[in-house]
Order: sequence, then C-alpha cells, then structure tokens
Amino acid sequence: MHASIPPNTVEIDLGDRSYPILIGGSLLDAPTTYADLPPATAALVVTNSTVSPLYAQRLRTALQGKFRSIHTVVLSDGEAHKTWQTLNLIFDSLLAHECDRKTVLFALGGGVVGDMTGFAAASYMRGVPFVQVPTTLLAQVDSSVGGKTAINHPLGKNMIGAFYQPLKVVCDLDTLQTLPPRELSAGLAEVIKYGPIADLVFFDWIEANIDRLLARDPAAMAHAVKRSCEIKAWVVAQDERDYGLRAILNFGHTFGHAIEAGLGFGEWLHGEAVGCGMVMAANLSQRLGLVDAALVRRLTALIQRAGLPIRGPQLLAGSIAHGAAQTGAGSSRKLSNADIYLAHMRVDKKAEAGEIKFVVIDGPARASVRSAPDALVREVIDACCDGR
Ligand code: NAD
Ligand code: GLY
Repeated sequence: MHASIPPNTVEIDLGDRSYPILIGGSLLDAPTTYADLPPATAALVVTNSTVSPLYAQRLRTALQGKFRSIHTVVLSDGEAHKTWQTLNLIFDSLLAHECDRKTVLFALGGGVVGDMTGFAAASYMRGVPFVQVPTTLLAQVDSSVGGKTAINHPLGKNMIGAFYQPLKVVCDLDTLQTLPPRELSAGLAEVIKYGPIADLVFFDWIEANIDRLLARDPAAMAHAVKRSCEIKAWVVAQDERDYGLRAILNFGHTFGHAIEAGLGFGEWLHGEAVGCGMVMAANLSQRLGLVDAALVRRLTALIQRAGLPIRGPQLLAGSIAHGAAQTGAGSSRKLSNADIYLAHMRVDKKAEAGEIKFVVIDGPARASVRSAPDALVREVIDACCDGR
C-alpha cells in the first residue's frame, strides 16, 4: 500500500537471541517476511475478536507453504482479558492440536495479545519460538520489542510473566490505518515517552509533527516507529533483564499502573494511563528540583495535543488488597485518593521492600530511578488529580 515507504530494519543486539524488527508497509501479506524463519512444523496464530476479521486470513495465507498446518486461536478483546483464564485458551489450543516444540506462535494484535502470546510461548513445553506481528502503534513502538511478556493479576499489572524474546518483529504500518483514534493516541504516549528520557531531537520532532501523526501520515508514522524502536533496542541491548537502565522505559508507568489497576483494568487504556502518569512523574521531577517548570509544561502540552488525559482520576478504594493501605496505626479514616495511589504503587515491580521507585527526568533527555518522600508524592497526586 505504501510503496513510497521502503521497509526498514532495526536490529536488536542480544547475542544469540538477537532479532530484526521489520518496519514498513505491506509486510503482513508478504511470504518473504517469514521466509527466513527456522524450519517448523505448525503455526498457531494468536489473535483477538477485533483483529482476527481484519488481518488473520492475510497472515495465514502468507504462512501457507512455510508450515504444514496453521491453527488460529481467537481471544476475547481487551485488557480485562489479560488473565490466566485467557492464557489457558492458548495452551488448550496448542494441546488440542498436538503442537510439538517446533510450533511457532504468531502474536497478531496489540500489546495484550503480544504479551500473552509471548508468555504462552515462554511456557509451552518450556519454550517454543514466537513472532510478534504488532497491529497497534503502542505495540509497534514498545510492547512487541524487548521480550517482556506477562498477564495481569487482579491486584497488580503485568505481575505474572517472563522475559522471552521473539524470533522477529513485523511492524506493518498499514495496519495502523484501522486503529480507532483513541488507540492511536494511546500509542502516541509511548512514542512521546522516548523524547524526555533519551532523545531531545526526537522530542522536538514529535512536537513539530504531532498533527501529521494524528493524521496517520505514512512517512511520519514510519519515522516515529523506527526511532522509537531504535531507542528501545538500544536500551534493551544494554539491560535485557531490567536490572538498571531499562527502568527508564517505565517513565510515567508507576503512576500509570496505579491508574490502570485502581480503576479496574480496561477502564483507561494503558497508553492513556502512561500519558497522564508522565505528567505526574514530570511534576514529581520538578518538585524534586530536577527539572524546571518549562519542561513540565512542554511535556504536558504535547501529551494533551496527542489526545491524552492530563489529569489523574480518583481511584476506587475497593481496588486495593485488604490492609494494603497503611493510613496510620489504628486509623479507621476514609482512604484518600493519595492513599489508594500509594497502595497500588507499593506493589509496582520497581518497588523494593515496599519503597516505591519512580522514573524521573533529571536532565535534558536523561532519566533515572529514585524514591521520594511519601509527603511529596501525596502533593503530586493532590496537584495532578481530580478529587481527593
Ligand atoms: P490492546 O492490545 O488492547 O489493543 C488495543 C485495541 O486495538 C484492542 O481493542 C485491539 O483489539 C485493537 N486493535 C489492535 N490492532 C488493531 C488494528 N490494526 N485495527 C483496529 N483495531 C486494532 O492494547 P495496546 O495498547 O496495543 O497494548 C497495551 C498492552 O501492552 C498493555 O497490556 C500493556 O501492559 C502492554 N505493554 C507491554 C509492554 C512490554 O514491554 N511487553 C510495553 C508496553 C505495554
Ligand atoms: N515497556 C517497558 C519495557 O519494555 O521495559
């Protein structure tokens, strides 16, 4: 479709687990896209009820000739289905079709399908190969790259999972044309993220091109996906297992994950929660004296122009585990919004012994991980959220 946009390849360098990220138009249908995969028996296409009618048959057609048998499992759509129960449907399908260890799983969809398919691939027979075919902007610029796979637990986001790298990532930019506008904006949150943490030139470019991105201009999309993947590949190559540098990719996510869990998964989109979470994390960075107000205003304005919420919501008290909010010895006072945010953030994966860690901006295109006094975090929540 976009013949004027030549395909690009970004390599992610992980030794014997290195792989290419293909970026371009018309990649989904092309048998050449899959020609270099190792010899395999069966393919299992994992997708969902929205993406399946749009793209599954085209992928299956492209895979014919490469695989003796091609099966498909169609999951329910949505973050609320990123669960053990849904994951088990992938195992049910693999076992029902007597799939062996040379079966390749194809994750066709957004980050929810990609994260669950990757986790299924990591676990089935202790590991079978898989290919990411991301069809949302968020999945193309972030979740399909880097090997983080997971499902949610009702008490915490992405709490059960594994690091497991795909064989390749296929970003067909044409698929972005069918994305609902709200999902496009959610993906832009993860694109914007790369600016303040790693690349001011890219930040400037996003500001100058946000209208083209919202209009899905193919050349602008191609650049945004490629530069985002380059930055992510650069970070992951240095810290695949998330012991240090990789945490910067979680800018906005500590607050964002609290929003997702605190409203019930699926109420706000992941990218919406991350967009608003970046506003809150930038505000915290300013209160810690790390950045000036001008950068916070600039980032907030860009997030708003991308169609994302910039005010945090009031979270649901019932969303936290019984006893999780310590409001003071013997206290029976009503939980404040800040209490609920803090309770969720204490189970964030970056937290250590209950001490919450935040990704903050601490210079131009530079981020780091820090703790902050609860009182200061409460100030941020009160200043950035609707309701107390
Ligand atoms: P999603 O997977 O729910 O997809 C968003 C919506 O778009 C869904 O309704 C989906 O069916 C639909 N859709 C997908 N492709 C479409 C297309 N081409 N046309 C029309 N509709 C389409 O959400 P997402 O934003 O892609 O991913 C969010 C998930 O990714 C979260 O669970 C988040 O935790 C995870 N994530 C993981 C990582 C990681 O490193 N593994 C990074 C970021 C986010
Ligand atoms: N999206 C965060 C990471 O991949 O580490």
